[in-house]
Amino acid sequence: MDLEKVLTDRLAPAFAAVAGEPVDPVVRRSQHADFQSDAALALARRLGRAPRAIAAEVRDRAELADLCAAVEVSGPGFLNLTVADRALGELVAALAADPRLGVPVVAEPETVVVDYSAPNVAKEMHVGHLRSTVIGDAAARTLAWLGHRVSRANHLGDWGTPFGMLIEHLIDRGEAEAAQELSIGDLDGFYATARRKFDDDTAFRERSRRRVVALQGGDPATVRLWRLLVTQSESYFLTVYDLLDVTLSRADFRGESTYHDLLTPTVDELDRLGLLRRSDGADCVFPPGSVGRDGEPLPLIVRKSDGGYGYPATDLAALRHRTGTLGATRLLYVVGLPQRRHFEMVFATAAQAGWLAPPARAEHVGFGSILGPDGRMLRSRAGGAVKLVGLLTEAVQRATALTRERNPELGEAEAAEVGRAVGIGAIKYADLSSDRHKDYVLDWERMLALDGNTAPYLQYAYSRIRSIFRRAGVAALPGAVVTPVEAAERVLAIELLGFPAVVEEVADSLEFHHLAAYLHRLASAFSAFYERCPVLRTEGAVRESRLALCEVTARVLHQGLDLLGIGTPERL
Ligand code: ARG
Repeated sequence: MDLEKVLTDRLAPAFAAVAGEPVDPVVRRSQHADFQSDAALALARRLGRAPRAIAAEVRDRAELADLCAAVEVSGPGFLNLTVADRALGELVAALAADPRLGVPVVAEPETVVVDYSAPNVAKEMHVGHLRSTVIGDAAARTLAWLGHRVSRANHLGDWGTPFGMLIEHLIDRGEAEAAQELSIGDLDGFYATARRKFDDDTAFRERSRRRVVALQGGDPATVRLWRLLVTQSESYFLTVYDLLDVTLSRADFRGESTYHDLLTPTVDELDRLGLLRRSDGADCVFPPGSVGRDGEPLPLIVRKSDGGYGYPATDLAALRHRTGTLGATRLLYVVGLPQRRHFEMVFATAAQAGWLAPPARAEHVGFGSILGPDGRMLRSRAGGAVKLVGLLTEAVQRATALTRERNPELGEAEAAEVGRAVGIGAIKYADLSSDRHKDYVLDWERMLALDGNTAPYLQYAYSRIRSIFRRAGVAALPGAVVTPVEAAERVLAIELLGFPAVVEEVADSLEFHHLAAYLHRLASAFSAFYERCPVLRTEGAVRESRLALCEVTARVLHQGLDLLGIGTPERL
């Protein structure tokens, strides 16, 4: 259905015949026609022939009569391809007739584990967790829509030495009091107080140490208190997920403690495989390929000198479980770029141990930081990390105020609902529309603007189309004949046909800014079309065809935004 692909498939045999070997026709959008093929130029040197002559021969050999209205050799040796209106219309009609908009369910579904969000118990979620949550959720939604078995793994930080002091602080505070504090989301306050006591009070510090030992030993009373901390935090995180409209649920919590019993067998296996080396009293693996600045191999500490296990061992145990027990073949880790080295070493170690062997593979889906307007790491006024809830609440408030201003007819409840979809959509889109490998600046004005590459712009395009149908009191006719004739109609039709390819590409690269850019191009093409081509003021076949274009545009916008986790209100 994707035109670039259809044209590529038609041109490839002609190129192969001319060149005597397979050639990629290199088809792309063109300023002079709909598409162009550039392959003749590169081929010229190899074949010792003039590129224009090659292009002309390809044109004569290629079977394009049913698809193209014109195939022309141009410039130094380009092939300019103009798709026939009729063919374009038929392809769009086929897209419209498909409930999946031309995107097939994958032939071979995989089990994919998406490790994302992963905040820490009794600690506030901050902007780093925002990026992980938003990108991870887009990955989970996209892969699930394509038919993969997606397992969402929320690798909560729910284990380790800080729990000694947290439990002691919980006891001092009284269970009910502490639960109250944690449930309203004063996580940082709770943590900071515990920390202060730990630093200032030797007796408290000693109690905390003993408590860690009791926790690790499975003492039932201690475990109960630990669980209280964990469930309170989980409940709080769920309220954030709800506000953020992400698909993570209680069933997806797979805290580090989940892998507790697997740590010893995992490290023992590394030992049996001869991969462990003692270094400074700790058991380490030196995975190939990881060297420090001085060229010395870097250790991955899997068992500390006190016999305890830490972050690397937990990730190794989790990975081994994901491939070995869950049978996952694609493991995604949506975690900030500062942890790149950690994951390189974990993956290399797992590969050495045989836990990560083809077809299974692991990917660190890394991302940069969110910056403040001053171009530096986003900080609160007090200089600390920005509380995620604060950020989200501000987004919703700003968007609701703007919604009321722009659309005074909306009732209170609807304005609030729209404000939420727009505010949260804007936050997510600002993240997903920028290259995840880079930092981006959080700019309220820009991300909430109705023009530009923003969520509100796309949501607005969607709501405009919905209003066309409301005003007309009609629906697009199923099976309508689509005949794009005007230039703006043709551009819109060609954009629509590009949806399947971009979804497929993004499912692989997890670079959602490509999908965002596509949706923005589509919405722009729609605006241009709507400006130039009256819909309701026409009649008969033209009206039918244009209504069908409108409808399928709305569906692609809706589906594309849904993959990004962004809602599409009916009116803005
Ligand atoms: N809890 C960690 C943090 O807040 C992130 C965990 C990422 N996932 C993983 N499997 N290591 O930085």
